[in-house]
Amino acid sequence: MASSRRDAIISPASSPTEPIRSPKDFLIFGAPLIRDEEKREVLDCLETGWLGTGPKVAQLEREFRDYKAAQYAVAVNSCTAALHLSMLAAGIGPGDEVITTALTFCATVNAIIHAGAKPVLVDVDPATFNIDPREVESKITYRTKAILPVHFAGRACDMDALVSIAQRHGLMIMEDCAHAVETTYRGKQAGTFGSFGCFSFYVTKNMITGEGGMILTPDERHADRLKMLALHGMSKDAWRRFSDSGYKHYYVVECGFKYNMMDIQAAIGIHQLRRIQQNWERRQEIWAIYQREFAGLPLVLPEPPDEGTRHAYHLYTVLIDPKRTNLPRDQFIEDMTTENIGVGVHYQSIPVHPYYQERFGWRPEDYPHSLRIGQQTVSLPLSPKLTDHDVSDVVRAVRKVLCH
Ligand SMILES: Cc1ncc(COP(=O)(O)O)c(C=O)c1O
Repeated sequence: MASSRRDAIISPASSPTEPIRSPKDFLIFGAPLIRDEEKREVLDCLETGWLGTGPKVAQLEREFRDYKAAQYAVAVNSCTAALHLSMLAAGIGPGDEVITTALTFCATVNAIIHAGAKPVLVDVDPATFNIDPREVESKITYRTKAILPVHFAGRACDMDALVSIAQRHGLMIMEDCAHAVETTYRGKQAGTFGSFGCFSFYVTKNMITGEGGMILTPDERHADRLKMLALHGMSKDAWRRFSDSGYKHYYVVECGFKYNMMDIQAAIGIHQLRRIQQNWERRQEIWAIYQREFAGLPLVLPEPPDEGTRHAYHLYTVLIDPKRTNLPRDQFIEDMTTENIGVGVHYQSIPVHPYYQERFGWRPEDYPHSLRIGQQTVSLPLSPKLTDHDVSDVVRAVRKVLCH
């Protein structure tokens, strides 16, 4: 909740001709908050010479696994890699279908394609922006192997419904948790509902390592295979190359990938994870300020978090409906940029992209909620790095752009 300290932070509008911020003070969307602890830990890597995969990666795996109350955690160099390897470890390949949402980042869909399988899209619920379980069931065929929900913006999907569908049809659940490090659903951690939970530590995410990712799994055999696939397909023993006990022979048992995380990346992640709650509280506070300050504007604001869930507050998205605002979404983006405030779009719907249209014959209008959200959505800055002054500038800029 917004504290009373913040009730009066919104200062009066500047002159209508002056931008809210100066160009040299451009507010970067999704700028990470990095403190001295991260810098010292990275410096330690540089000084010891242990830059690649080593003890800090192992430490991050243990600490992330414990934070998420999961059985096994395997660090990789992106969520894209995490999703791709999860597909392979699940045995998903040519001839198989994986059901996912039409409103997501392209990596979710690309990972399915990279595994040789066919993505099958489902439209979203217009209120939550999450995959609509009622539509999932109608897309299941004898080829379907898995459901891949994305906890959009950090809001938990309807996991009761999805798990029940998966159980009834003998399907796997693989969660895209790129937005959902802190997300829980009825007390259970996002990323632990099915066979694999895939996380992103990309620079704009709630917890960052620059580039980076993590896979959670309850199955030791899956964890072993993921590790092997992440490092060229070299046998488990190959990881001992990264210990200080001297050279060890290794054997390639599969044609794997170069998806391992570096200690330099883990050095950042270890301290990001320690401050995960603190950063979450700050984003929750900014979210509440936006909800309060924008309440009277002609915007569609995000729904409050669903009961029995913990929202990760990864993205604060508003919808610009030109019928209400007299302003197309892209003009809003341009005007915010003129005010020197960075914004984002998460996302244009997957079927609008030419590659998918050509390859799968998808038509955007077949996924009407995703299409409309993709045309109207704008994400406003929500980084814990934002000062009260920054938040005030965002609010003033939104008001200025909408009420000009
Ligand atoms: C929903 C979703 N899935 C997957 C990814 C891919 O993450 P990464 O950049 O770590 O590969 C992202 C990143 O933006 C994302 O937002």
